[in-house]
Amino acid sequence: PFVVILAGGLSHERDVSLRSGRRVAEALRSTGMTVSVVDVDAQLLPRLQSHRPDLVWPLLHGASGEDGSIRDVLELLDLPYLGTRPRESRVAWNKPVAKAVLAAAGVLTPSYVTLPQSLFRELGARSVMEPVTAKLGLPLVVKPAQGGSALGVTLVTSAEQLPQALVDCFAYGDLALIEEAITGTEVSVSVVESPDVTALPAVEIITDGPYDYDARYNPGRTQYFTPARLDPEIADAAARVALTAHTTLGLRHVSRSDLIIDGKGQVWFLEVNVAPGMTETSLLPQAVVASGQSLPDAYSSWVRAALV
Ligand code: DAL
Ligand code: MG
Repeated sequence: PFVVILAGGLSHERDVSLRSGRRVAEALRSTGMTVSVVDVDAQLLPRLQSHRPDLVWPLLHGASGEDGSIRDVLELLDLPYLGTRPRESRVAWNKPVAKAVLAAAGVLTPSYVTLPQSLFRELGARSVMEPVTAKLGLPLVVKPAQGGSALGVTLVTSAEQLPQALVDCFAYGDLALIEEAITGTEVSVSVVESPDVTALPAVEIITDGPYDYDARYNPGRTQYFTPARLDPEIADAAARVALTAHTTLGLRHVSRSDLIIDGKGQVWFLEVNVAPGMTETSLLPQAVVASGQSLPDAYSSWVRAALV
């Protein structure tokens, strides 16, 4: 089959997307597939119309890639593509909405409030400290309600840090998600459909500081254990949460849920990604390899499954 990979775009995660795109293209080409990597700019429509690929694989991270808008374009062109449909992408991409849906489905997710930038301006930076910490306590995590790769994310350990954390967050979007910080082990569980819905082995993330952009994309900065060093029952519970997120939110083909396991072994849902990173240091490829498949075999089987 002829596959077009969409990579790049104009989100804050453009560079990550280009790296994901190159890596997946390389793996697919090694299996004999014809692959073209296409950036997202004003030429996108004419390019897709002249290429007429058998399948499009959107590897765009961040806004437009994960918020459903590019997928709307693919629907409009009636082109088959790998991944979640537009409406479901939009829900998953909106962290507070995804959390609320999954909490209603019985999944544990940290308590939170959302704060629009306009309200922050109107109330004044200092006046948000008291009500937020009264509701959620400390420490807190401040992050853009819609975003990826930990951009604009701050761990807040004292109320005085909250205003600056919010200012940093609003650089990436006009709605902040302020969450109770759960202390524990960070793990990530990917779900694939090829064709049955399956959770891949959990990846455990160990950093000597925050798992931020730098720790994510510089080889050697973070230590990964795949499968995660969890008791089998806890690993099963983590897999169940990722499967619940995938099916409850109506995701398609592939997703990756980011979770925290607390000291009591409880699994907390943080977020789910519809276009998980596929770079050298990303989590999903590590989970694929740990499951015993090579990346070319796995990716080409996903492409074939998405074609039917
Ligand atoms: N947002 C990045 C690409 C990830 O979740 O892997
Ligand atoms: Mg994410």
